[in-house]
Amino acid sequence: MEHSGSQQLCNTSGGSIAPVEFDYTHIVGWFHAEKIYQQIYDFIPNNGWFCEIGAFAGKSTAYFQQLCKVNNHKKVNHLVIDTFEGTKNEHEHILQSFDKPLFEVFRENMEKCGFNLDEIFVKTGKSQEILLYEFPHHFFDAIYIDGDHSYEAVKMDLKLAKLKVKKGGIIAGHDIDIPSVWRALREEFGKFEFDKYQKSFIVYNY
Ligand SMILES: C[S@@+](CC[C@H](N)C(=O)[O-])C[C@H]1O[C@@H](n2cnc3c(N)ncnc32)[C@H](O)[C@@H]1O
Repeated sequence: MEHSGSQQLCNTSGGSIAPVEFDYTHIVGWFHAEKIYQQIYDFIPNNGWFCEIGAFAGKSTAYFQQLCKVNNHKKVNHLVIDTFEGTKNEHEHILQSFDKPLFEVFRENMEKCGFNLDEIFVKTGKSQEILLYEFPHHFFDAIYIDGDHSYEAVKMDLKLAKLKVKKGGIIAGHDIDIPSVWRALREEFGKFEFDKYQKSFIVYNY
């Protein structure tokens, strides 16, 4: 039996045992940057903006929404950008295993976690175009980049992040172990902090 936000488990005799919350850990994905997401959440002021590039089935998105829900003393506007087509040569196999389009999987996962999709700003398309054309400079308090990992795309995402994040705001991202990501990062930022376990970098925009 399934209902919004939790699943009721039954034991073999049909009796009810403790309900298990459906949360981000149940969503297929690659997210393990909880500490950096917490740092980002803590950094963003009330009514500030967080932009997340690359959501896939919503694992990282659900974690950020969970932070917002638990710490509801401030409101953070959460923008998600994804093509919802997966990344070429990375996600074909997993997309085939879904019985519905990726956006539907994302939407359902948000519902199962108990999050209202109306409270998340979701833009479908390429981050390199959406950021360039649809947002003013120095708009976001923080960006986390986990979209297309090709060198050209990461380089463009980083360049746009520098323009679109406020001075002193956070630019962070995933998959520093991928050579194309590391190369683009080294070229765009001489110095940055990184965490091997979270496979993430973080830098304050200057
Ligand atoms: C590694 S996944 C994101 C994983 C996610 N953060 C998680 O929690 O598991 C990368 C995502 O980037 C998306 N993507 C690929 N190219 C993109 C682009 N140019 N702009 C925006 N999103 C893109 C893919 O559709 C995919 O969902």
